[in-house]
Amino acid sequence: MALESNERESVLILGAGCFGLATAYHLASKGYSQITVLDKADEIPSHFSAGFDLNKVVRAEYPDPFYTSLSLKAIEKWRNDPLYAPHYHETGFLNVVSDAANQQTRDTIENYFASIQKQPAFDGQIQRVSGHAEVKKIVPAFQGLINGWSGYWNKMAGYCHSANASAAVYCACVNLGVKFQLGKQDGEVESLLYASARVGTTCVGARSRGGRIYLADKIILAMGPDVANLIPQIGKQVTGRCWGVVHIQLSPEEAATLRNIPVTNVRDMAFFFEPDRETNKLKFCHMGGAFTNYAYSKDGLSLPFTELSESQFVPAEDEFYIRKLLKEVLPQFADRPLIDAHLCWFADTDDSNYIIDYVPETGSSLVVLSGDSGHGFKMLPIFGEFVQALLDNGDQSETRWQWKGSQVKTGSAWRSGTSQELAGVTRAKL
Ligand SMILES: Cc1cc2nc3c(=O)[nH]c(=O)nc-3n(C[C@H](O)[C@H](O)[C@H](O)COP(=O)(O)OP(=O)(O)OC[C@H]3O[C@@H](n4cnc5c(N)ncnc54)[C@H](O)[C@@H]3O)c2cc1C
Ligand SMILES: *[C@@H]1O[C@H](CO)[C@@H](O)[C@H](O)[C@H]1NC(C)=O
Repeated sequence: MALESNERESVLILGAGCFGLATAYHLASKGYSQITVLDKADEIPSHFSAGFDLNKVVRAEYPDPFYTSLSLKAIEKWRNDPLYAPHYHETGFLNVVSDAANQQTRDTIENYFASIQKQPAFDGQIQRVSGHAEVKKIVPAFQGLINGWSGYWNKMAGYCHSANASAAVYCACVNLGVKFQLGKQDGEVESLLYASARVGTTCVGARSRGGRIYLADKIILAMGPDVANLIPQIGKQVTGRCWGVVHIQLSPEEAATLRNIPVTNVRDMAFFFEPDRETNKLKFCHMGGAFTNYAYSKDGLSLPFTELSESQFVPAEDEFYIRKLLKEVLPQFADRPLIDAHLCWFADTDDSNYIIDYVPETGSSLVVLSGDSGHGFKMLPIFGEFVQALLDNGDQSETRWQWKGSQVKTGSAWRSGTSQELAGVTRAKL
């Protein structure tokens, strides 16, 4: 069946989080005129998306230089593209360990530093930092003892307001004619629809919880850690994991004293950002080995809770590290209530690589975008290009992003700390 030259295939994108929105926008801007996006949330940004957040770090440090060069491309767009630039704040990134850190954590910081040290783009942008006085010189607003912090400061990094950026991409999609179907009835995908074909089984569409049927030439599954609900054959390639996120409320005067501070990651405790410019909230995240939720699923897979209300807590361990960090850096806020506590879910792979590929034996009808491994949001401005390349080439030539089937091997995830099962953790009493 020959397509008119100006007519692209119809595309159905399931999930309007970071990867789904980026894909919809990019394809729409490249001439795909029949794009429909479904999401179970009632509005975009989806409250279920990991991107529904005040901020995400945008930086190019990576143990794998492949992602460093992609991040540099993304940063270029965050800085200069009028769609993204209003949501990007290049406050810098202070990446350190405290006195208490173990050698493994120290090595991680060194590896991150090494990954950008050789890049010409970072000439004059990075410096090593060691001890109280040097930290205070960079961030005079830090009033605590800052015992033995060491690491580096990267000026060519910062954060994006991820909810605002998602909203902007959503509006841009609507302006380009992308159709959205949202909410439990029409937007929540319950199952995929297949038609028998001569080779394999072709995916032809999806059915919503309310029974609505959507058909398209290409189906793109972009539901983060929830993909396994629709393609159980992805199995252990993707593990739903979460980290806790909390805020503390500052007054406008307090927030003003911390305006423009760098994203500060004290790797053995937690990281935080400048106060949100609209709400004056300071966001904290203790990024340990993350938490699984095997108890929730019957198939031996770890999946996010279905309802948001079930994710409204953080482990006690998170509170411990966040309070410890506050005492050391901003003691004036050390006893402030931790509010808005919630778990933020992502799709982890064993080697921290994304999965951007066709699902095998679907005759190239079904694409899966998942496995963000907690480092996907910064790619919002360029992620759609990765998907277009897959559609144009007909297969995934980038081995990092291929469907891994049964070859899954554990090992080289970049994170320090071990993953714990949620069911066994004590919850913080906030
Ligand atoms: C605490 C935390 C901190 C992070 N920090 C950073 C950072 O600093 N920098 C960075 O680059 N990245 C960061 N990330 C990772 C980043 O948020 C993710 O990589 C990115 O959001 C992944 O995009 P996604 O589209 O795959 O998933 P999501 O953005 O989570 O979107 C999934 C979408 O699928 C929808 N959905 C789910 N099930 C269904 C269904 N049945 N039917 C319809 N729709 C459905 C959801 O509503 C949601 O909109 C962080 C993540 C977490 C959890
Ligand atoms: C996010 O959007 C709100 C509303 O437009 C705005 O007030 C705020 O400054 C934005 N935040 C950032 C950090 O860009």
